[in-house]
Amino acid sequence: MDFAPATENPLDPFPHYERMREAAPVFHDEQSESWHAFRYDDVQRVLSEHARFSSRMHGDDQSGTGHLFASSLITTDPPRHRQLRSLVTQAFTPKAVDALAPRISQLTEELLKGIASLGTADLIQALAYPLPVIVISELMGVPAEDRDRFKLWSDVIVSQTRTSAPNEDHHATNQEMTEYFLNLIEQRRSRPGNDLISNLLSAEIDGQQLSVPELLGFCSLLLVAGNETTTNLIGNAVLCFTEVPGTIERLQKEPSLLPQAIEEVLRFRSPVQSMYRISVAETTLGDVHIPAGAPLVAWIGSANRDERQFPRPAQFDIDRDQIRHLAFGHGIHFCLGAPLARLEARIALEAILSGLPGLTVAPGSRLERMDSTIVYGLKTLPANWHAA
Ligand code: HEM
Repeated sequence: MDFAPATENPLDPFPHYERMREAAPVFHDEQSESWHAFRYDDVQRVLSEHARFSSRMHGDDQSGTGHLFASSLITTDPPRHRQLRSLVTQAFTPKAVDALAPRISQLTEELLKGIASLGTADLIQALAYPLPVIVISELMGVPAEDRDRFKLWSDVIVSQTRTSAPNEDHHATNQEMTEYFLNLIEQRRSRPGNDLISNLLSAEIDGQQLSVPELLGFCSLLLVAGNETTTNLIGNAVLCFTEVPGTIERLQKEPSLLPQAIEEVLRFRSPVQSMYRISVAETTLGDVHIPAGAPLVAWIGSANRDERQFPRPAQFDIDRDQIRHLAFGHGIHFCLGAPLARLEARIALEAILSGLPGLTVAPGSRLERMDSTIVYGLKTLPANWHAA
């Protein structure tokens, strides 16, 4: 059985996942010497059994952009993971995040004001990308003008997979990001402000300050990784809502359904399709033996379409409730930014639904998926609506 779906529509990896769930739910890819889990129960186990499946990166992955993340929350195991996470949880609790709602609404309004009268725009470029970047930049005290660079960097990062060797682009991006963040850290050290980086600089764990690689890890993780995913959640939501006839009208009439509809988007077109782990010791997954030190890929995008977990999984259904999707992960690494991503998506989509009447994807446009097996999102989303 082939692991890579060579000829399929890249916008639609889901038939491939379905075949894998059936024929090889835990698949050993001999070429890359990696193991792949496709069913919900196995994916949930790989994500949450941190003593068995480690989040640390492989030894040979320290050269590309990987090294920036090597000491970050997402690539650390307990006990260090718990300590690092405790430093930032306060900034991301639902209560702390709710306090950002007025600013997020204001930014959304400003961004939409620029395009509402045009009747057409690329919604990724006009709203879905700038909104999360400006919000996190403000939270971290980073100049919003630098946001175009973050976009370039995150595109390079998501085009990389942990099982592929970094190329020249990755090396150059790595160097640029390192220099940029080191500079920023130095600026905050000499002139602390009321922002997350200044707080992290003064934070101590058992009397010890964070190391420079740990600070770099926080900066790159928050500024780059969290943005692209929220952009994709907003873009994927517009795609899902316009694809199923009647959905937009229904959500306009019953806006209280929107949070549930967003959860269904997270399930149906998960912005993060896959996450990585390494087996700590020999183990089994399903009935497959996995050696110690083996790289594993947990296919979240497939788990969220598993017919063993969700009835009619290939149907986008905003009336589905209690959606126990794995789009934000599971267990100790559960997405720190989930409350922020949900809030930004709700505010942006409410504004789109009420401010862009008659919204459709521009007829004849060819939608292309970003070049990545890790994230799922559109490169551009040309849309039309009735201009005011
Ligand atoms: C729709 C948007 C988002 C999706 C789908 C998403 C998805 C995920 C997933 C699947 C994980 C788990 C990784 C693992 O198990 O290894 C994760 C972790 C994380 N996410 Fe998100 N994320 C989103 C938005 C954000 C935002 C907005 C931020 C921050 C501003 C953020 C920050 C983080 C951090 C720091 C972690 C690591 C947590 C840990 O390891 O303890 N994410 N995210």
